[in-house]
Amino acid sequence: MKKVRKAVIPAAGFGTRFLPATKAMPKEMLPVVDKPTIQYIVEEAIESGIEEIIIITGKNKRSIEDHFDRSVELEVELEKKEKTELLRLVNSISDMVDIHYIRQKEAKGLGHAIYCARTFVGDEPFAVLLGDDIVHSDDEPALKQLIDCYDEKQATVLGVQTVAKEEVDKYGIIDGYEMSDRVYTVNDLVEKPDVDKAPSNQAILGRYVISPAIFDILAETEPGVGGEIQLTDALKELSKQEDMFAYDFKGKRYDVGNKLGFLQATVEMALRRDELKVDFLAYLKTIVDQERIDVE
Ligand code: UTP
Repeated sequence: MKKVRKAVIPAAGFGTRFLPATKAMPKEMLPVVDKPTIQYIVEEAIESGIEEIIIITGKNKRSIEDHFDRSVELEVELEKKEKTELLRLVNSISDMVDIHYIRQKEAKGLGHAIYCARTFVGDEPFAVLLGDDIVHSDDEPALKQLIDCYDEKQATVLGVQTVAKEEVDKYGIIDGYEMSDRVYTVNDLVEKPDVDKAPSNQAILGRYVISPAIFDILAETEPGVGGEIQLTDALKELSKQEDMFAYDFKGKRYDVGNKLGFLQATVEMALRRDELKVDFLAYLKTIVDQERIDVE
C-alpha cells in the first residue's frame, strides 16, 4: 500500500485579485490575524502526517523562504529581552518540517506549477494544498480526511464541497455520484462551467491527493481556460485512465486570495482566538449596531 508522504503547495501566482498588496509580496504571505496564510496551510499538512513539503514559488519568493527559515538576529534579540514565549513561537516555525522550494519561472497556470514538483515527488501519490486556501476544521484537518479516503481507495481523491448553483462558474466542478457517505466517484471534470451547463455543484476546493501518473499527462496538457495550463484539464484526462474519487471534506474553507474571503477568514479566525474573542466581538457588535442606525 502506498502512503502519502509529500505535499506540494503552489504559491507562484500573481495574485492580481489582491493588488496592490501583492505587487511585491506573495498573497500567500498575507497575514490572517497574526500568521501568514501559508503557515496555516503548512500546519494543516504537518497535522495530516505529511513529512516533506515543496513550495512552488514565483518572483517574490524571498519572504516565504525567510518566514520558514531561522532568524538568528531576532532570536538573539528575544533572548536578550527574555521574551521566552515569543522565542519559542519563532523557533517553532523554523523547526516545523523539511521545506523545499522550487521556482516556477513563469506563472503558466496551476497545472504547470504542479508539474514543476515532478522530480521532488517521483513515483508516489502526493498531496496538493493551494497556497491561498485556508480550511478550518474542528474535526480532522481537511487534508487528513482526504488521505484517509486515499488509504482506503488507493486512487486520486479531490477535496470538494457543495457550492451555490450560481457560483459554479468560479470552480472546477465534478461529474459524479455519491457512492457512500461523503465519497463520490468522479466520471468527469470541468473547469469553470457555465451555470446552466454544470454537471453538479460539487466544487474542487484547494485540496487534492493525486496519483503520480498526473505528471506524464501534465507534460502534454495544452493551455486551457485563461491561457493557463489547468490542473483540472489534466485531472480530467487522469480520470479516463485511473479510478478517481472526490471527498466532501468537513471544515470551513476560506479563499484568502479574494478580498471578501480574506476578510471573512480574518474575522472568523480572530473570533476563534481566546485572547481576542470577547473584545473583538464587542467591537463588531458596536459596528453592526452603528450600521443599523445608519441604514434606518
Ligand atoms: P489562483 O488562480 O487563485 O492564483 O491559483 P492567481 O493566479 O495568483 O490569482 P489571481 O486570479 O491572479 O488573483 C491558485 C493557487 O495556485 C498558485 C497560486 O499562487 C495559488 O496559490 N499558482 C497559480 C501558481 O503557483 N502558479 C500559477 O501559474 C498559477
